[in-house]
Amino acid sequence: MWNQYISAATTDDVIKHLSEHGAQARIVAGATDLILELERGIRPGVETLIDVSRIPNLNRITLDEDGIIHLGPLVTHNQVATSKLLRERAYPLVRASWEVGAPQIRNRATVAGNLITASPANDTITPLIALDAWVVLKSMRGERQVKLQNFYTGVRKTVLQPDEMLVDIAFKGLDANQRGTFVKVALRRAQAISVINLAIVLSFQDTVITRAAITLGAVAPTIIHAEMAEAYLIGKELTDQVIERAAELARNAARPIDDIRSSADYRREMVRVFTARALQAIHNGREQAGMPANPVTLMSANLENIPANFSSTQHGKESLIHTRINGQEFTFTGGSEKTLLRLLREDAGLIGTKEGCAEGECGACTVFLDGSAVMACMVPAPRADGAEIVTIEGLANGDKLHPVQDAFIQDGAVQCGYCSPGFLMSAAKLLEERSSPTRNEIEQAITGNLCRCTGYYKIVQAIENASKVQET
Ligand SMILES: Cc1cc2nc3c(=O)[nH]c(=O)nc-3n(C[C@H](O)[C@H](O)[C@H](O)COP(=O)(O)OP(=O)(O)OC[C@H]3O[C@@H](n4cnc5c(N)ncnc54)[C@H](O)[C@@H]3O)c2cc1C
Ligand code: FES
Ligand code: FES
Repeated sequence: MWNQYISAATTDDVIKHLSEHGAQARIVAGATDLILELERGIRPGVETLIDVSRIPNLNRITLDEDGIIHLGPLVTHNQVATSKLLRERAYPLVRASWEVGAPQIRNRATVAGNLITASPANDTITPLIALDAWVVLKSMRGERQVKLQNFYTGVRKTVLQPDEMLVDIAFKGLDANQRGTFVKVALRRAQAISVINLAIVLSFQDTVITRAAITLGAVAPTIIHAEMAEAYLIGKELTDQVIERAAELARNAARPIDDIRSSADYRREMVRVFTARALQAIHNGREQAGMPANPVTLMSANLENIPANFSSTQHGKESLIHTRINGQEFTFTGGSEKTLLRLLREDAGLIGTKEGCAEGECGACTVFLDGSAVMACMVPAPRADGAEIVTIEGLANGDKLHPVQDAFIQDGAVQCGYCSPGFLMSAAKLLEERSSPTRNEIEQAITGNLCRCTGYYKIVQAIENASKVQET
């Protein structure tokens, strides 16, 4: 899929390599978009990947003295979904990030990657435009700041130049007089692309609206403002009639297409319905309804796990990958152009980790990478260099099965068994994260795992029973 893989240690290394390789190089962060794009031939001519995921401090969410919130380019969706600062000051973004994919995807996928892929259905662009965000782009030529609104030139097209790296996403956090929300309409509750999405940010003086931003995703080539609806709301209170009229105006702004997920008419109507519901929810103070206070992440408690003395490394065809799997040291030669899933199965002989889809959709390949559950089919193998990996073969403690393994056997939660390694890994990570998960938290934890045999009832029951055994 690529000829050369560079693991960069600093931002300066990245922009130097970008300037040398031009359009033949591409930055890789979580790889959840790029791996698929390379496989599908959407990025012809890309030969070099520059992995930025080990550069220190790029995964920080900070508030500066001017009240500006900054997201580093490695901030993942799960970090956003669980950030207290963002929950208070940027709820629409938190909701959008929580709605992306499934836990294993959100542990690797970055907000920066989501902005740059630039699909009009991508979830975090809509709230960030409503929040009036800007991005900072850096190259050997210097830095420039671009309003997110002006970043997009068409479907999957941006003003980012091949030699530029996005180094900051910034916006002013919401203050006490501002309220907002995000709504995603999709064909399933997880692992689904938006049929439409929308974000609303309103500023109030008492109950009167002084500023309004309503942004719409998946209804035009880029994210758009519903300008007439925004203008209409200024100076008004959120009465039923005002909400109804604003929702109609938002619907009129949408210019959707018919596609496999929905007709254009349905999309327009959903814009009306969900704009009205979102405005009503803001009016009733219920705009955060349905969002868990403490979302399940399956994420490592320690995200600062860059190997000691890490320096920029170039992986070619014959390079070595040194990694620890299930507590044992491994050295591989020649696996640098593969995914981690293939490395585990073909080179380490660990075939318990399954390939169901190779597209990040089914969860059969779930492993722990540096303590977080991830889809191994979405991880480039060289990212395993210097990393700590746990696979299904490492879940048991010697001869003693993990409580979730025991419970799956006791409760008959396995039929063909193909999906089971993935479910067991997600379940084990969930019980590490919280010892007595609720049924809803169990369901959240396995949203990234598909089973075509069991109907899930026994799987959920087994995880619940495993948590009880673990408690005793
Ligand atoms: C199963 C599955 C489900 C998904 N569900 C959703 C969903 O529900 N909603 C949604 O919006 N998306 C979804 N996605 C898409 C994807 O996960 C997101 O777009 C994700 O945020 C991309 O981030 P990444 O770090 O993985 O990007 P990568 O794949 O690493 O990179 C994406 C693009 O950004 C560029 N890039 C990354 N970082 C930088 C940087 N700092 N500077 C310059 N260029 C950079 C890369 O070169 C590449 O072109 C899903 C993907 C999968 C596989
Ligand atoms: S998610 Fe990796 S094989 Fe399906
Ligand atoms: S048991 Fe067969 S796919 Fe889950």
